[in-house]
Amino acid sequence: MTENLKWQITSNSLEASQLLVDETLFHVANGYIGIRGNFEEGYPNQYNTIRGTYINGVYDISEVKHGEKLQGFIDNKQKIINITDVQGIELYIAGERFSLFDGEILEFKRTLDMREGISKRHIIWKSPKGHIVEINIQRMASFIKPELFVIDYAVKSINYAGEIVFVSTQKGEVSNYFDPTDPRVAGEYEKHLTVEKLDSVDGIDIITSITNKSNIRVSSAVKHVVSAEHELERIQDDQSLTSKIKLNIKDGETQRLIKYCIFTDSIRFSDCHQAAVDKMKEVLEISIDNLYELQASYLSSFWAKADVVINGDDGLQQGIHFNLFELLQSVGKDKYSNIAAKGLSGEGYEGHYFWDTEIYMLPFFLLTDKALAENLLNYRHEKLDAARENARILGHKKGALYPWRTISGSECSAYFPSGTAQYHINADIAYMFVQYYFVTGDLDFVENKAAEVLFETARLWMDTGHYVGDSFRIDAVTGPDEYTCVVNNNYYTNCMAKYNLKWAAKFYELLKDNNRLDSLADRLEVTEEEVREWQEASEKMYLPYDEKLDINPQDDSFLSKAVWDFENTPKDHYPLLLHYHPLYIYRYQVCKQADTVLAHFLLEDEQKLSTIKNSYEYYEKITTHDSSLSTCIFSIVASKLGDIKKAYDYFMQTTRLDLDNVHHNTKDGIHTANMGGTYMGMVYGFAGLRIKEQGIFFNPIIPEQWESYEFKICYQERTIKVHISKNQCNFTLLEGKELKINVYGKEYLLNNDLMINF
Ligand code: BGC
Repeated sequence: MTENLKWQITSNSLEASQLLVDETLFHVANGYIGIRGNFEEGYPNQYNTIRGTYINGVYDISEVKHGEKLQGFIDNKQKIINITDVQGIELYIAGERFSLFDGEILEFKRTLDMREGISKRHIIWKSPKGHIVEINIQRMASFIKPELFVIDYAVKSINYAGEIVFVSTQKGEVSNYFDPTDPRVAGEYEKHLTVEKLDSVDGIDIITSITNKSNIRVSSAVKHVVSAEHELERIQDDQSLTSKIKLNIKDGETQRLIKYCIFTDSIRFSDCHQAAVDKMKEVLEISIDNLYELQASYLSSFWAKADVVINGDDGLQQGIHFNLFELLQSVGKDKYSNIAAKGLSGEGYEGHYFWDTEIYMLPFFLLTDKALAENLLNYRHEKLDAARENARILGHKKGALYPWRTISGSECSAYFPSGTAQYHINADIAYMFVQYYFVTGDLDFVENKAAEVLFETARLWMDTGHYVGDSFRIDAVTGPDEYTCVVNNNYYTNCMAKYNLKWAAKFYELLKDNNRLDSLADRLEVTEEEVREWQEASEKMYLPYDEKLDINPQDDSFLSKAVWDFENTPKDHYPLLLHYHPLYIYRYQVCKQADTVLAHFLLEDEQKLSTIKNSYEYYEKITTHDSSLSTCIFSIVASKLGDIKKAYDYFMQTTRLDLDNVHHNTKDGIHTANMGGTYMGMVYGFAGLRIKEQGIFFNPIIPEQWESYEFKICYQERTIKVHISKNQCNFTLLEGKELKINVYGKEYLLNNDLMINF
């Protein structure tokens, strides 16, 4: 693999099922907009395609129908909507319409370049009548101008002189993808967007539509810039705007159509129709080459901070680059948005935000771009009132309960046993607020945001749990493992809630000691007595433990269930959730994903090493990894336990999950949590990083397949470079004051370079 290929994803497949996957892999996004990698010219009728364009945080509301609707069940849910389709460009050469499924394909390659931030298609096409043209199409979702998506379409004639025609469309008639057989995508057809206004201002074509129930407007604006004199015919109907652009091409000559597209919405802009025009005018002031340069320089700063380099494993390196790039493409960069489980690449999980953000993706941003991490946490703080309301719906008199899946803050989970019942999301969010504090030491943030979130989530645990004798217990919740639902004393939940309660009390003391408590304590009516209750419940939290096996049972009843019959489960019956009724699955010891093992990574000091090891071995045998959130955690804990071979194997399964379509559903979008898991597998797994109240800890190991690996992290206003080779680790303080770091259990002062042999 050449240096370039480590930075590029390529494909030349025209096979129907791979094309669907490639629509996801070659999508372009910038955290605000996302456009799937659909062919501009379309596909033959028999081909399935998921044609999609999305804006982060823009949703419509769908009614949720329950056969038997019980108290508190949700009536409706938000879902991300597919917005106006600006992708269409047909090309005609002497009247023959270009298609990759017609004529002869002399060359075809698509490339996603992760340093340029551009998705490309290169084709040499011989038409049925023998005209040959080279077509190069580039697409970019600009990181600098987030509303901008560009299609840069160049046609070079190889043996033809005469007329070429571009037919470029902007279509307001769009709908979302659905599949009634797959619970991971929407189940039924629904129309979400109605065109309100079609317009043309100064050669800019605009469509503004409104969502059917959420009343959010979205506008798209299109401007064509053509490389030569041309004839333009504009066709308008009540749903779409079409531009027919006719021009001449000479033999050997290249002609180019640049289609600038702007998207705006009424959540961010008071008049999104006008904003689309204004943003377009702003963008047109910048040359296209300059826009490309700005994109590349944005990415060059990103990679300078965020790259994780592996020497000696090019396939993995490519996978790591892809995953980090996708995290950047997916992350919401304003207060209205977060990171959807599929980023902005598809409609799987309906564009919802889950615990995935805090536990799997935030660590990457926290250690490489504090501002993006803060934005994600601010989003949760903003949604605190909605979480309070959610708690009331669930019968709690106090506190806040974050919804299991949401876009704008209210619960969108219709199946509560593996949805709303996952109360651990509260503690996951709290955990990440605490990690943010450890990494930044930002007391203002604790005062203005973090403490409120921790107090309100702590209150929820107090209202959910109860004492049995001297131990505090939490009944009827679901842990991360969605194959075991509504149980008492899920180890993960109890352990994380314990931490949540402990840190709510600690933040209280911290603010008190710094004279920053009063206004918050008054506003929330927090009393010393209440804080003592949090502390006590934390100390007395019941954590299930089985002495004979020296493991933490996943919950009170887990070990008394029968073990799933793995031997007689056909390979094609995985993922189990698509083949068995949930109740059938719930009766067995079988895990969809890391649960107790995850708690042992996040809160490793709660248990002795033997318990962590025995638990890992126990759960490994009964975990299917049907969720993409699982193998990365097993890799991290295998690293901790020193089992480098297993750590490597699990890491391999994690890193190329979308590139190799391991879960067979990449067509519905990327698996963003797994991508964050890749970063964690390197940094927390192989390098053994832990960030605790006491400081920063490393425990590096290196798989035999690699020569070395390297990354940088930002920690308390410092930048530290970590380089691990076969028998040496090097830590370099690139920025900031000296600090103490702990490596293999020993404390060192890092003031410049530190080299440790192992
Ligand atoms: C996993 C959840 C996850 C969700 C969204 C499910 O398959 O079990 O843990 O939050 O996907 O990624």
